[in-house]
Amino acid sequence: MVLGWIFSIFLALCLACLLIMIAWKRTSKGGKLPPGPTPIPFLGNLLQVRLDAIFQSFLEFQKKYGSVFTVYFGPRPVVILCGHEAVKEALIDQADDFSGRGEMPTIDKNFQNYGLAMANGERWKVLRRFSLSTLRNFGMGKRSIEERIQEEAGYLLKELHKVNGVPIDPTFYLSRTVSNVICSVVFGNRFDYEDECFQKLMKMINESFVEMSKPWAQFYDMFGGIMQYFPGSHNHLYDLIEELKDFVASRVKLNEASFDPANPRDYIDCFLIKMHQDKSNPNTEFHLKNLVLTTLNLFFAGTETVASTLRYGFLLLMKYPEVEAKVYEEINQVIGAHRIPTVDDRSKMPYTDAVIHEIQRFADIVPLGIPHNVIRDTHFRGYLLPKGTDVYPLIGSVLKDPKYFQYPHAFYPQHFLDEQGHFKKNDAFGAFSAGKRICVGEALARMELFLYFTSILQRFSLHSLVPPADINITHRITGFGNIPPTFKLCFMAR
Ligand code: HEM
Repeated sequence: MVLGWIFSIFLALCLACLLIMIAWKRTSKGGKLPPGPTPIPFLGNLLQVRLDAIFQSFLEFQKKYGSVFTVYFGPRPVVILCGHEAVKEALIDQADDFSGRGEMPTIDKNFQNYGLAMANGERWKVLRRFSLSTLRNFGMGKRSIEERIQEEAGYLLKELHKVNGVPIDPTFYLSRTVSNVICSVVFGNRFDYEDECFQKLMKMINESFVEMSKPWAQFYDMFGGIMQYFPGSHNHLYDLIEELKDFVASRVKLNEASFDPANPRDYIDCFLIKMHQDKSNPNTEFHLKNLVLTTLNLFFAGTETVASTLRYGFLLLMKYPEVEAKVYEEINQVIGAHRIPTVDDRSKMPYTDAVIHEIQRFADIVPLGIPHNVIRDTHFRGYLLPKGTDVYPLIGSVLKDPKYFQYPHAFYPQHFLDEQGHFKKNDAFGAFSAGKRICVGEALARMELFLYFTSILQRFSLHSLVPPADINITHRITGFGNIPPTFKLCFMAR
């Protein structure tokens, strides 16, 4: 009996040593990493962070270690950059060094380094160049992106008239309309709002974003290597993304069946043309896997980001009705009651522009940013980050940098206005990140935000079910994403 115990303890010790050695071998790449909280073997800094408020934990570390520090995600060292200056020095001044994509264990199994957003090296360069130029070309084709958004906003306004004055949760009204814009670019058509398959896709995208932001996902990012063999929510997230992937693959098949290279209808067709041109090149990046996963990146990112920002925006406008009133006044002066808003109106509407920037700053929908990776040994602020080190540019800390924003934690549109009421640019407005990986959809997203906000507020006023003082504007979940609180409101026709 005693011998059995001793043997078990001996075995457990050997196993622990083995794990520590594996972890150490995996992570020690030499170099000189910035200081940070002391890790313990294998667990790293797990016991010093709050998984339900990881961003706040990082801000606590910033107070002690400064704006560049190292945190161990389990056995893996990750360098965290806080505030506008550190992020700018890395992503802009040393753009190439920091241009790699870091690990995201929660979704890496789905993407396996394929598709624009998760790719690295030559694959990423080729996919990024192609995607940017194709998105741009669709804007110059028969129907401009602006026209697509205006048309889609028109469909939304019709829906809102149907529920005039009835309390609704805006979540899926907004995601369906926003998603249809990117759908028309990548799949060549919009979906009927009542289409059941489309509704299911919207729910899956929303649920994936929420799941990625829950505490388990932060835990999984630290211990993905082991956790993948256990049951849990990560399997659900994996299944959700696989189902979205299957949908995109089925759309690619549809395109292939009616494909005419002389007449590309959408992003998928343009990619298929490249695949045909490159079919004798064994090293081409234009293949089915990259087509499906890049299209999924665009579909996913093009839906949830803008929809969440609009949703948060409406909540903030109800909390601060005087801001909504001033936006409406500007709409009335510049656009009037009947003309459809255009992108050209934006430069004549500094207050509205400032409000939209402030909504994005306050909503801060991707507070941790998406992890980067240094593609070579990199000297940075006196440290040496070995090639392959993951780096988190904390976008939330840039958007709330007290050096650049007078009231970082308040909703204050004057952050983007000068004394004369002109729009004032702020270099720390980094909602779309910066440098070589900067959001591919920035121009599209900015157009959508302006056209949706102005089209809706031109026709409807917003009514909260509770007095403004009781409106809760704190994030419902905070993690990879900041998820706005759930709420209902009434859109009242003007
Ligand atoms: C309010 C709206 C949006 C916000 C706040 C936002 C924010 C971001 C951020 C922070 C990144 C990470 C950049 C980095 O790695 O440093 C990103 C990347 C990306 N976004 Fe957006 N995004 C928005 C809308 C869109 C839209 C509409 C699309 C689709 C056209 C899109 C497609 C992408 C893609 C494909 C990437 C990966 C780029 C790469 O890895 O090279 N995003 N976005």
